[in-house]
Amino acid sequence: MAETQSRGHVFAGQKRGTGDDGFDGDDVFVAKKSMLPTMATENDPAAALASARHEFGEHGGVNMSIEASATFTVMEPETMRRMFAGELGPDRDFFIYSRHFNPTVLNLGRLMAALEGTEAAYCTASGMSAISSVLLQLCSSGGHVVASRTLYGGTHALLTHFLPRACNITTTFVDIGDVEAVKNAIVEGRTKVLYFESMSNPTLTVANIPELSRIGHEKGTAVVVDNTFAPMVLSPARLGADVVVHSISKFISGGADVIAGAVCGPASLVNSMMDLHQGALMLLGPTMNAKVAFELSERIPHLGLRMKEHCCRAMEYAIRMKKLGLKVIYPGLEDHPQHELLKSMANKEYGFGGLLCVDMETEERANRLMHHLQNYTQFGFMAVSLGYYETLMSCSGSSTSSEMNAEEKALAGISPGLVRMSIGYIGTLEQKWSQLEKALSRMQDSNLFNKN
Ligand SMILES: Cc1ncc(COP(=O)(O)O)c(C=O)c1O
Repeated sequence: MAETQSRGHVFAGQKRGTGDDGFDGDDVFVAKKSMLPTMATENDPAAALASARHEFGEHGGVNMSIEASATFTVMEPETMRRMFAGELGPDRDFFIYSRHFNPTVLNLGRLMAALEGTEAAYCTASGMSAISSVLLQLCSSGGHVVASRTLYGGTHALLTHFLPRACNITTTFVDIGDVEAVKNAIVEGRTKVLYFESMSNPTLTVANIPELSRIGHEKGTAVVVDNTFAPMVLSPARLGADVVVHSISKFISGGADVIAGAVCGPASLVNSMMDLHQGALMLLGPTMNAKVAFELSERIPHLGLRMKEHCCRAMEYAIRMKKLGLKVIYPGLEDHPQHELLKSMANKEYGFGGLLCVDMETEERANRLMHHLQNYTQFGFMAVSLGYYETLMSCSGSSTSSEMNAEEKALAGISPGLVRMSIGYIGTLEQKWSQLEKALSRMQDSNLFNKN
């Protein structure tokens, strides 16, 4: 890090420059108060990202240097003791070991905190490790979670199978659109977390984040929201949630080349997760590599631009597909049950999300459509995941939601023929639309369109 900016945030050189590791009085107090720098929160995620501290390279490069070290030296032996006692921390450029804090990973955490408007954030090796770590931090054995019944299959399996068996943490699944059901499911004193996705995978149900946060807080539970489907579009913490988790592997990465995650929340929670004795992140160790953190931090500045194009194309295709008589699910359409709700919560100018679903009713018809779209017209790829520049398509019931049994899928509203499409932005909109139309005409199936 070079001292090329004047915001008073640059620590580099101070420690080495003085040849003295110690800070006295107020400096130590600041370090003790919070292990992580806190963010100024602004309402718009793009504005907040632009105001976040910019880390320059060691030699004044516009991009930060990568701190590719597993461990860090100290100048004085006493410093090591003070670091382990929590008196000196990364907010003063004191680093112990990269499973604990690493400057490059911490910088990505600052960007994630700015994006989500939280005090702090910590980046992990996957979305699942972010989710499991935060649940394990907030719940002890015997603890209870109330969760949406429409969740990514992996999260559903974690809550249904893994956490009860391994940790004695149980979950009640509810329809989060039913406020009374949510209230009734929360057992005051025992329910530690109310968990849902801002826009659900794969049904694109939109959660009433302010209302659910209010209920959660009234009943004394932490409100944890997975915002993987809607970065920039929705800001759950700005709407009242306590914690926002992400699979960075999706839109935030945008390259379908990295698996990564983040926990964004109060500094007290993130610090507790890094505690040497009790911290889920520190002790389970789903650490992000510094080189990965560097790559990802270079992509966040254009996340807003990418989201606008994903969302704009998804909206246009949804309108046109609906006109053709297809059964389309897209929160931007006026007939979507939470269209008005989403409009009332969304950050302006990003749109209504980059995913849409087409209900082909049977798996056979879903598979045939995807086959034509990939193998004849090159509209997109049959692949799980989302947020890539190419369109990705999967039949959710037999893929990313296959962990759920038939009854659970029915309750979650996942039809066997549901095709989830993450709309890409490669090529021109019209070029891609003509590929979609050609694939539809190849279906040669008089029952293809579910007139409604
Ligand atoms: C909504 C949602 N949350 C979390 C995850 C898990 O993320 P990761 O694959 O990065 O572990 C996924 C992955 O598919 C997801 O779709």
